[in-house]
Amino acid sequence: MSTIESVLNETRIFPPSSEFARQANIAGIQGYQALCAEAEQDYQGFWAKRANELILWHKPFTQVLDDSAAPFYKWFADGKLNVSYNCLDRHLETQADKVAIIFESDEGEVQRVTYRELHQRVCQLANALRSHDIKKGDRVVIYMPMRIEAVVAMQACARIGAIHSVVFGGFSAKSLHERIHDAGAVAVITADEQVRGGKHNPLKATVDEAMRMNDTTSVQLIVVYRRTGGEIPFDAVRDVWWHDITQDASAECEPEWVDAEHPLFTLYTSGSTGKPKGVQHSSAGYLLGAKVSMQWIFDYKLTDIFWCTADVGWITGHSYVTYGPLAMGATQVIFEGIPTYPHAGRFWEIIQKHKVTTFYTAPTAIRSLIKLGGDLPAQYDLSSLRLLGSVGEPINPEAWMWFYEKVGRSRCPIVDTWWQTETGCHMIAPAPGAVALKPGSCTFPLPGIFAAIVDEAGHDVENGKGGFLVIKKPFPSQIRTLWGDPERFKKAYFPEDIGHGQYYLAGDSAYRDKDGYFWIMGRIDDVLNVSGHRLGTMEIESALVAHPLVAEAAVVGKPHEIKGEAVIAFVVLKGKYPHGEEVVQITDTLRDWVAKEIGPIAKPEEIRFGENLPKTRSGKIMRRLLRTLAKGEEITQDISTLENPAILEQLKYPSK
Ligand code: WT7
Repeated sequence: MSTIESVLNETRIFPPSSEFARQANIAGIQGYQALCAEAEQDYQGFWAKRANELILWHKPFTQVLDDSAAPFYKWFADGKLNVSYNCLDRHLETQADKVAIIFESDEGEVQRVTYRELHQRVCQLANALRSHDIKKGDRVVIYMPMRIEAVVAMQACARIGAIHSVVFGGFSAKSLHERIHDAGAVAVITADEQVRGGKHNPLKATVDEAMRMNDTTSVQLIVVYRRTGGEIPFDAVRDVWWHDITQDASAECEPEWVDAEHPLFTLYTSGSTGKPKGVQHSSAGYLLGAKVSMQWIFDYKLTDIFWCTADVGWITGHSYVTYGPLAMGATQVIFEGIPTYPHAGRFWEIIQKHKVTTFYTAPTAIRSLIKLGGDLPAQYDLSSLRLLGSVGEPINPEAWMWFYEKVGRSRCPIVDTWWQTETGCHMIAPAPGAVALKPGSCTFPLPGIFAAIVDEAGHDVENGKGGFLVIKKPFPSQIRTLWGDPERFKKAYFPEDIGHGQYYLAGDSAYRDKDGYFWIMGRIDDVLNVSGHRLGTMEIESALVAHPLVAEAAVVGKPHEIKGEAVIAFVVLKGKYPHGEEVVQITDTLRDWVAKEIGPIAKPEEIRFGENLPKTRSGKIMRRLLRTLAKGEEITQDISTLENPAILEQLKYPSK
């Protein structure tokens, strides 16, 4: 790949306050550098030390990294543990009565569970699953609303060594079916209905629909949690109620001691071809990554009230709801609903009410909240906050500044955390008491993570030049394989043509600035080539969003006779959807703006306005659909993961 040109020029910098640095788990840049040096000198020793400190082992490990079958790496392979034991039992002696979860329902009802109660509930469900013959290694699909019970279901699987595969509650019967089938699941845990933003989503009916499709005969048991009491179909042989099977189950359950490499879960993520990839994670290495990042990046303290807004259907909800916070013994908030219901201040209200200290969310949520009420946070007492976090896509500098000033009141560092379903935990993110922040940069790798930017030959590129983001050394929390498809795993993540199969290829393009900071430019597939200049879509989008009229923007390329590719922008305005003369005017304004901000090269050929953008249910813009629309072609791709199909009609033609 010829190098990708960076056109973003961000000069603002925010060093940690001395107050924050003083109390931080990694204090000052020297603290960070010392850890990096330790990892540099004795890589395996570095990770072995953390694994001994942070994990309670049933049988200690003697081997650290086994790379004999690379890239199928093994970590701590002869050790034995149980992840649920590490998240629950270990706290019973020291803090059984500490609140583990503060749950707030869609309707605003609040429930609190202590570690003792959570342990009981997990043991009861684990026993019930065992009595229904679910064993170590069996796959269990979890299709649940974002409630305490979702965490209980995952932890119960971990307790008995069953491999869970959570499917986000917004996925269709077809997607659910595909995942059940691929995993060969023996059981599904679901609820009658899910409630979000006042709307009911019939989870059980969707499971039944998936069961009617071919090849789901592996499923012997469907456990149904009663959320609403709505009418649902019920199969007297196959279906059981959660409350029936747990009611008389014992509240003690001996954990299944598993090998360090025993798969804790698989989680499906979309690939470039239609077929989703079942990302398989280990037990010990994964748990270690989740814990160490809680300490280093979230600067976790026992008094924190932690809130990660991600659904357990995504990796973020696995690592920073179900596993990381519980392994640390934290108190965390779980919220069933959506940020805008019943009003656009719901997030700020929850932070105020539960005195949240650490708030972790996604740029897409931040941008939609800016759109709905940029000044709303000022109406709430957000003084409990001490740290903010962002994940999922590059956060454009304007959204970063808003988050920093309006939500964090210019007191709270923002950790922009770059990682993936496949990496299990943060890879590149600031240690907030050590690293000076630049809005839009995820800054530096975690200690022990050897991230780099390379060209096609796998050689490091110089600072300022873009290239492929890779991780050069294996790390404990990384993906172990793709479920049932080791060849695809090798080809996708350790390709021969970049770094000779030695490096983990993330699939993102990125560059480092003159100070060595990492800047993510987008997925490799999204790179544009305009008149021989390779441009990351994210920078043009950032420039558009920096204009006061614009709420959101997505940029794609469209084949162009002269330029190779022309820039087409899809834009959501903060105000009303424009018509007639407004379209012309605003288009001119924005084109000039981009020309001025970035350069004429990046000037959009065309701008289409919409009330929204096509997004996946996790909020990722589906640029492949926009590419088809930009070309004026009919959409024939699979749109089952699209949250808002109606929007395609609006974006189909040039705005008038
Ligand atoms: C892709 C991974 C990681 C949990 C949620 C998404 C993009 C993620 C950032 C960030 C820039 C980011 C990358 C990455 N991404 N975080 N802080 N800055 N880009 O998990 O669905 O596996 O997606 O999300 O493109 O490769 P995922």
